[in-house]
Parts: sequence; structure tokens; C-alpha cells
Amino acid sequence: MSSNQNKNRELQKLREQVKHGGGEQALEKQMALGKLSARERIIDILDKDSFQEYDMFVQNSNAVFEDDRKEIFGDGVITGTGTINGMPVCIYAQDFTVAGGSLGMMHAKKIVKIMDRALKMRVPLIGINDSGGARIQEGINSLAGYGEIFYRNTMASGIIPQISVVLGPCAGGAVYSPALTDFVFVVNKISKMFITGPEVIRTVLGEKISAEDLGGAKIQSEISGNAHFFANSELECFEQVKKLLEYIPQNNSVKSLHKSPSLPKRTDIENIIPSDPREPYDVKHIIECLTDNSEFLEVRKMFAPNAVIGFGRINGDSVGFVANQPAVMAGVLDVDSSDKVSAFVRFCDAFSIPIVTLVDLPGYLPGVDQEHAGVIRHGAKILYAYSEATVPTITVILRKAYGGGYIAMNSIHLGADSVFAWPNAEISVMGPESAVNVIFRKEIMAADNPELIKQKKIEEYKKKFASPYVAAGMGYVDAVIEPSETRTMLEHALKVSKNKKANLPEKKHGLIPM
Ligand code: HXC
Repeated sequence: MSSNQNKNRELQKLREQVKHGGGEQALEKQMALGKLSARERIIDILDKDSFQEYDMFVQNSNAVFEDDRKEIFGDGVITGTGTINGMPVCIYAQDFTVAGGSLGMMHAKKIVKIMDRALKMRVPLIGINDSGGARIQEGINSLAGYGEIFYRNTMASGIIPQISVVLGPCAGGAVYSPALTDFVFVVNKISKMFITGPEVIRTVLGEKISAEDLGGAKIQSEISGNAHFFANSELECFEQVKKLLEYIPQNNSVKSLHKSPSLPKRTDIENIIPSDPREPYDVKHIIECLTDNSEFLEVRKMFAPNAVIGFGRINGDSVGFVANQPAVMAGVLDVDSSDKVSAFVRFCDAFSIPIVTLVDLPGYLPGVDQEHAGVIRHGAKILYAYSEATVPTITVILRKAYGGGYIAMNSIHLGADSVFAWPNAEISVMGPESAVNVIFRKEIMAADNPELIKQKKIEEYKKKFASPYVAAGMGYVDAVIEPSETRTMLEHALKVSKNKKANLPEKKHGLIPM
């Protein structure tokens, strides 16, 4: 055998060794928890045979292990490049079988290197988190590593899409890397995120809670809103990542993938909204009547369901949809839905994805809880996000648009490029009943039959104010349209605004109320 062949064989042996991660026993433990290995995760999420690994022979900086595992290569994280849907991505996956996927100096250096590469190459970054946090034995160098990662998450924000897939523990300050990225994916029973774990909570506060109930996938998806996508298995989660990448661009200077256009499958748009303005309906059915093939990828589905956000296509191009959901709390805006909507508007704006806003809401949610939870501060984020957006934005008022809700949901006053209203839209300062109770209170109270007078005043108010024609008469609505005309109007408005150029006043940066 020639010396070259010998060297090749040695390389092959070393590569095989790397692939075993932390060893059979640790891998078995991982499998018993229903988790895939870090390497399997990368292979499954990327296009077949597209993974190119970097830094596989990196070793940990200190002697973490005092036994024969000193020689483990890779330092508990696998990094490299590959493609998804044929488009390049940079990726890393923490390997829990090596020192619990803990983040030491070389582990962090590998992540930092792939992050730098993603930013330089202007391709999406995917991070798969499965780690016990800062590697205790490496002390301050582990903390330094986190700092370097957070800094890069921030620098890359708005330039390349950043996706976090949490497939195991993600605890302590480590959670702030996912929190700084654009989309967080979690898997039921597998993902666990918290700043301080159950043990600390028990010791410090004397409260008992399981890791699952504290920061499991359901909690992150429904309650805290930290997660954007929830799946029941890792493979389902990877399909969600692939789907999302079909709608978003590689970076902020290119467009999202164009697909061949198709008409919506759903066509009953005229019959979805009940005639009684107080009756609920599912706004997702309206969205299905507007998107190619009636497809819609909902984002943050389980969090603040009184607002709906997500991606669809119109004439083959990706569009971000924002809608009030009359089926939940009449579609009001509250603290959580304000955060949900504003973050999504900012993502679409940063990545040149036009936004279609569907309006049907009675306004911001009144109540002591909401006031004390900061509905003023959170609600302001929507005003800010829409006002600042320079991407094409189109609004369709489906039914109710009252008060602050009318302004906030991308009214023409905040910079909407086109505003359409359906014939039964009610655009006014407040709902007819509330308005009549304020302006005709004395007259109603003095009447022989107060209820009769009240109903008469409500009818008068509706005729005078609660219609789309007052707003249309002022030019605040560009056109009153039939529901069945909506898709055509959207197609046209999107076509017209393709070359939109809008400049914001020069400044260092705005001060969005965070
Ligand atoms: C070094 C670690 C480690 C860590 C786990 N391991 N976490 N090694 N540093 N942070 C090692 C374990 O010693 C063990 O090694 C192996 O990984 C597997 O861990 P197990 O405990 O056996 O696994 P499991 O029972 O599944 O429990 C997982 C766990 C637990 C819940 C994550 O390991 C744990 O509580 N780890 C510590 C978490 C933590 O406190 N991290 C520091 C947070 S501070 P052997 O050799 O036995 O296989 C922090 C600050 C960051 O992260 C600040 C950033 C700004």
C-alpha cells in the first residue's frame, strides 16, 4: 500500500471516529429520550448528500475529560454548510453526547466561525441547540463564547434569516441566542428553554415545577411566545423549517423564491363573514381564498391567536399576511398580539416581503390587566412597525375597524400603499352602541322609552358613520370592493408596487418602544 493510500485510510479512520460523537453509551441515552443524534439532525434537515462539514478535528481547549475521552474531536458541536430546497445555508448542531453539548471555548469558536461565514456569504443560518449551557470546566471562556455569539446574532439581524431549532435543553443565558434570532422551532417533550431551571426555582423560591411545565415546547409556543413553530417530532420540525425557507429570501438584498402561480382552491369568499357584525368567523378561511393553492404557513399559531400572521403566495410571490382573528376575542389587539404582529411586520419589512393586512377588530382590549401589563407600550410597537415599513403594504378592511384598531392595522395614515374596504365595513371611532351611549346618553335617559330611542340612534349612527363610504369619501380608503374582487385587487396592487422606493428620514436608528 502506498504512503498516500495509508494517509487516506488514516483520514477515513479519523472521520469515522468523529462520527461517533460522545460514544455509543451517550448516543443510546440520546435515542432513549426520543432524540436524534446531532449528525442525523443535520443530514435530515439538509438536502440529501449536501452537507460539507468544517472543523471536525477541533478539540476542546482544556482537559475537560480526565479519561480516554480526551481525544474526542469536534468539541460537541458539528458545523458546516449545505443546501435546503437547493439553496445554500450555514448550519450548526450541538452534540449533547459530548459533555452535554456544553459550550466551551473551541465549541464557541466553531459556532462563531460558521456565523461569520453565513453573514459573509449572505445565506441563512440554522442553529440546532441541545446543550447543558456554559461548560463549567472552561469558566469565563465559556461566557466569552456566548457573548461572541450574541454579538453576531445582533450584527446579522435583518441581513440574513436566522433560525433556531431547540432540540433539548437550552438553559441559562444560552437562551438568548435563539431569542435574538428570527424564528424559533420547538418539539413537544424534547425542547426545554429557561433562564433558571426548576432546581434553582425550588432552592430560591421554594416552588416546585417540572422542566416541561416551566419551559417545555407547549409553554414556549402558547404562553411565553418565545417559539414560532411547534412540532410533535423532530422530522415534522425539519419539514417546517424547509417550508419556511420556501417563503423567505436568502438575505435582505434578494427576493424570496418565485414559484409558478396558481389560483386559490377555496372560492367561497363571499359567504365567510356573517352578516351580524358580532358573530365570529375564522379569518384563515379568508386568507385561503386569497393565496395561491389556498396555502398558508402560519407563524406563532398557538400564541396570541386573536391575531394571525404567516406566509402565503400571490401570483407565485411570497407575501406576509397579518390579520385580526374574529374567532378569538373578536380579534382585539392586546399586549401579546401587539408583540406578535409588530415583530412579524418588521421581519417582512427587513426581508422585502410585501405585507397584506386584513382588518376586523373592535380595537385595543380594555381592562385593568391589559393597562397594567403595558398595552400602551406594546400597542405602540404596531404603530411603529407599520409606520417604519418601506416594503409594499396593502390593507383590506373586512368588517369592523374601530378607533385605535383602525389606525394601527396599517391604515393609510401610517403609510399603507393601498387600502380597500368591503361594502359592509364599519370604519368609525367606536362601535355604534358604545358611541350612542356616549353622545346621546342624556337624550336616552330622558326618553319615555329609552331602549327605542337608543335603537333609533344606533341605526342613525350606523347609516351616518359606520360604513366604508365616509372613509372612502375622505380618500382614506382607495376603493370599496366586493369580496370576490379582493384577490384581483391584491394582485394588481402588488404588481404596481413592485418597484416601490420609500426612504426613511436619515438617523442613526429609531427608538422603538421595546
Ligand atoms: C459541563 C456538562 C454541562 C455543563 C452537562 N454536562 N452540562 N458538562 N458543563 N454545563 C455533562 C454532564 O456532566 C454529563 O457528563 C453529560 O454532560 C450529560 O449530562 P447529564 O446530566 O448526565 O444529562 P441529563 O441527565 O440529561 O441532564 C441534562 C441537564 C444537566 C439538565 C442539562 O446536565 C444539567 O443540569 N446541566 C447543568 C446545566 C447548567 O447549570 N449549565 C450551566 C448554566 S450557566 P458525563 O461525563 O457524566 O457524561 C450558563 C451561563 C451562560 O449557561 C451564560 C451565557 C450568557
